[in-house]
Amino acid sequence: VANTKTNILIQGESGTGKELVAKAIHYNSTFREEPFIVINCSAITDTLLESELFGHVKGAFTDAVFETKGKFEIAGKGTLFLDEIGDISPNLQSKLLRVIETRDFMKVGGEKIMKTEARIIAATNQDLKFLIEKGKLREDLYYRLKVVEITLPPLRERKEDIPDLVAYLFEKINRELGKNVRKIPPGVMKLLVNLPWRGNVRELENALTRAIILAKGDVILEENLPLETGEKRIFPEELISIKEVEKKYIQHVLKETK
Ligand SMILES: Nc1ncnc2c1ncn2[C@@H]1O[C@H](COP(=O)(O)OP(=O)(O)OP(=O)(O)O)[C@@H](O)[C@H]1O
Ligand SMILES: [Mg+2]
Repeated sequence: VANTKTNILIQGESGTGKELVAKAIHYNSTFREEPFIVINCSAITDTLLESELFGHVKGAFTDAVFETKGKFEIAGKGTLFLDEIGDISPNLQSKLLRVIETRDFMKVGGEKIMKTEARIIAATNQDLKFLIEKGKLREDLYYRLKVVEITLPPLRERKEDIPDLVAYLFEKINRELGKNVRKIPPGVMKLLVNLPWRGNVRELENALTRAIILAKGDVILEENLPLETGEKRIFPEELISIKEVEKKYIQHVLKETK
């Protein structure tokens, strides 16, 4: 995937790593020196989003004092990451479809036709098929976006990955916090593997950060994990070190998206 400029659609619940995967694809592509531009399609109004995407000319609307560059222009030959694509309006859906099909666009209020060579990676945590059924998303746009489709499963459906992920996140968090909490009792690891993690990797990362901050010495404690009260259990003595479970989780994800 990383070296061809096909559009990519990444689907997955919140916190499953959609943006991380998009970046991994970009920085492993031949266009890695080009910009990686993120735009969240749900954070701003329709008019503002249009001008963010395409830019506007001076005088296009009341506040348009200067001509601006849109993200399509700024992205150049790089990647434009359209986050929360399920939230774009019908008006912008048509405009986006047009850029994808023809590769050209115009600034808001402009008359000059501009060209884009950017790769589009769109992401969503919504069920796009359902949005299509409800008439909220154009089917033709959906098919244009999902030339390559990547679905990131929720963490609770890939429990077997959790130990590697925990190892990776431990290294990262320790480094960032200047801590040296390296031991995870097997009971704690078991718990980490079996918690539901509705916020996925982001929630796991937050929980580990908290546990590492609260840890006394170099061992992470069950009592510092986000547990329902009354869920306390036996605490085994034997410890396994991070090294034993260490593998590079990112590499694994990368391999799957290549
Ligand atoms: N496989 C992974 N390995 C290491 N860290 C990960 C992994 N997946 C996600 N993360 C981390 O989890 C956090 C959430 O990831 P990201 O922002 O990419 O999720 P998202 O799917 O875009 O979520 P949202 O829909 O809420 O925006 C980030 O801090 C990211 O670094
Ligand atoms: Mg995101």
